[in-house]
Amino acid sequence: MIPVFLLALVVAVKVFKKTTPNGKITVYLGKRDFIDHLDHVDPIDGIIVVDNDYLKGRKIYGQVTTTYRYGREEDEVMGVKFSKEIILAREQIVPPAHHEDKQDLTAVQDKLLKKLGPNAYPFTFKFPPASPCSVTLQPGEDETSKPLGVEYVVKTFVADGADDRGHKRSSVALAIKKLQYAPPSRGRRLPSSLVSKGFTFSQGKINLEVTLDKEIYYHGEKIGANVTVNNNSRKAVRNIKVYCVQHCEVTMVNAQFSRHVASLETREGCPITPGASFTKTFYLVPLASSNKDRRGIALDGYLKDDDVNLASSTLIAEGKAPNEAMGIVISYSLRVKLNCGTLGGELQTDVPFKLLHPAPGSGDAREQKALKKGKSQERSRYENSHYADDDEDNIVFEDFARLRLNEPDD
Ligand SMILES: *[C@@H]1O[C@H](CO)[C@@H](O)[C@H](O)[C@H]1NC(C)=O
Ligand SMILES: *[C@@H]1O[C@H](CO)[C@@H](O)[C@H](O)[C@H]1NC(C)=O
Repeated sequence: MIPVFLLALVVAVKVFKKTTPNGKITVYLGKRDFIDHLDHVDPIDGIIVVDNDYLKGRKIYGQVTTTYRYGREEDEVMGVKFSKEIILAREQIVPPAHHEDKQDLTAVQDKLLKKLGPNAYPFTFKFPPASPCSVTLQPGEDETSKPLGVEYVVKTFVADGADDRGHKRSSVALAIKKLQYAPPSRGRRLPSSLVSKGFTFSQGKINLEVTLDKEIYYHGEKIGANVTVNNNSRKAVRNIKVYCVQHCEVTMVNAQFSRHVASLETREGCPITPGASFTKTFYLVPLASSNKDRRGIALDGYLKDDDVNLASSTLIAEGKAPNEAMGIVISYSLRVKLNCGTLGGELQTDVPFKLLHPAPGSGDAREQKALKKGKSQERSRYENSHYADDDEDNIVFEDFARLRLNEPDD
């Protein structure tokens, strides 16, 4: 016999669901975030349940589309479009077009099929290789048009044939995200940079060395930068500025821009005596929450979610050039700038680092969750629901629409 206290700790499976406006069809997905592991991407695995006698010979199709918006809607004139929509996959789900092998089903599909009965049908879609990750560029405070970025939507509709697009009342669209996570090891290399500057009308140089305490940071973690300034000059450093810079490359239009997502300024240690050096560790925490309403900041997926974070660094599979990655390529650097006065100019260096989520299930992932705890009511409530033993089969259903305000309504 299993002791009662053990039963209470059985972890529930969380499932997202959404029903068509006419209430006849419900789509279930085991997750909303799908991970690109570089050598493979999580399959989009779901279940569709249809009311008895509703179809009357019609079929249910499913498709995955991606929308890549690389220019503003209001700048679209004379039929020029700054977005591209691609259907990545389309398939007949009901009646099943091909026999789905039982061992090909994921654990969630298996569980749902058992629970939801004979009118439940599994479906599986795959992201094509090299499909870009979900990114949203934050619109300005008073902007109402569609944000720039890469979005994915799973849609199902009822139709007589594959060319028929179906009706809204029997269709359902679920916005999903494709994300990348940090590799299991964060690496041992400490990114570092050393630059120096001479001056036209005065002798000697100022040297600046910056070393970061990690190569890969997790969202919410503080970045420690050791800054050493060596004074062999007669110039005065007015101040030291430290920035976290988010670099964003919009591939389709070959546009590149950078935004400061965290910064600090100090006069500490100035002036530095000749021949001497000044060393200090500066800390910055780049967060989406401290960049609210700032136009053009790149975020992971859409922004109305409570735990939205800055866009993760884009990871490129080995042997691939970064420009082969369609979509929006994100990278980060820590920038240190010495202001040497009007005549002296500036001495600046950038040290690249990566900003990512820890791989789910890793010890680091649990640590990061603990870090976030208390910050978001919604999130802790959601986490608790994992342990709620209120469902006989330990499946917790959550309405898909509730957390997604930007759903395409077509
Ligand atoms: C930064 O400086 C501190 C104090 O000098 C030192 O203990 C630490 O190892 C340094 N870290 C890096 C990454 O260089
Ligand atoms: C370097 O030393 C000179 C004195 O020789 C001083 O005038 C100058 O302000 C110092 N520079 C910095 C960067 O502190």
